[in-house]
Amino acid sequence: MNEVDWESRYQNADTPWDKGECHPALTGLIHRFATNEAAIIVPGCGRGWDLLALAKEFPARVLIGVDLSLSAVLAARELCADFPNVQVHHADFFETTSWLGNYLVGAIWEHTCFCAIPPALRDDYAKSVSQLLPAGGILGGVFFTDMDDEKSGPPWNCQLDELKQRFAGSFAIEIGDGSHATFPSRQGEERVIVMTKI
Ligand SMILES: C[S@@+](CC[C@H](N)C(=O)[O-])C[C@H]1O[C@@H](n2cnc3c(N)ncnc32)[C@H](O)[C@@H]1O
Repeated sequence: MNEVDWESRYQNADTPWDKGECHPALTGLIHRFATNEAAIIVPGCGRGWDLLALAKEFPARVLIGVDLSLSAVLAARELCADFPNVQVHHADFFETTSWLGNYLVGAIWEHTCFCAIPPALRDDYAKSVSQLLPAGGILGGVFFTDMDDEKSGPPWNCQLDELKQRFAGSFAIEIGDGSHATFPSRQGEERVIVMTKI
């Protein structure tokens, strides 16, 4: 598969990943993000549903969303307009100097961003999140690790062994058993994974 034109997908309303709400697993995991007061990052935040849920839970913390699609960014800014602690940047997650400013990062919420990054950039993603987080910082989220090999999605799933191998150098990894709350269409395809920066 070639790189995805994310902006066109949003402009054409071709966004099957967008369920109009935050990921159901975020509610059960949100306490894991409360271990410090530093900023929470949402890479590939899309229209901002997860940002909104985090902003409601942590009204005193800086929440930073970043997305390549301007249409998604504008929608996320509108969705989170009542929360001045939310920033949404139209930028490439990998180019941290263009969106992070001087904020200290405490946690990263991952929801269908890792799977949206071309597989060739997976080590770059692992390196970026590792560099952003201090020791003890959390990268938590849902990862598509349990899809059939022949079914690629959405758009690039990643088997559990590969995921562990790419992150194990910098993180202690807790892998859920797949019984978390999720959308019906994703049942059995993803895992909740919490990685703590070593
Ligand atoms: C599958 S969508 C998920 C969006 C959102 N997390 C959600 O669940 O609704 C993947 C998102 O990642 C964004 N994205 C892909 N690569 C990115 C990158 N390098 N930097 C920032 N955003 C990126 C896309 O524009 C898209 O909004």
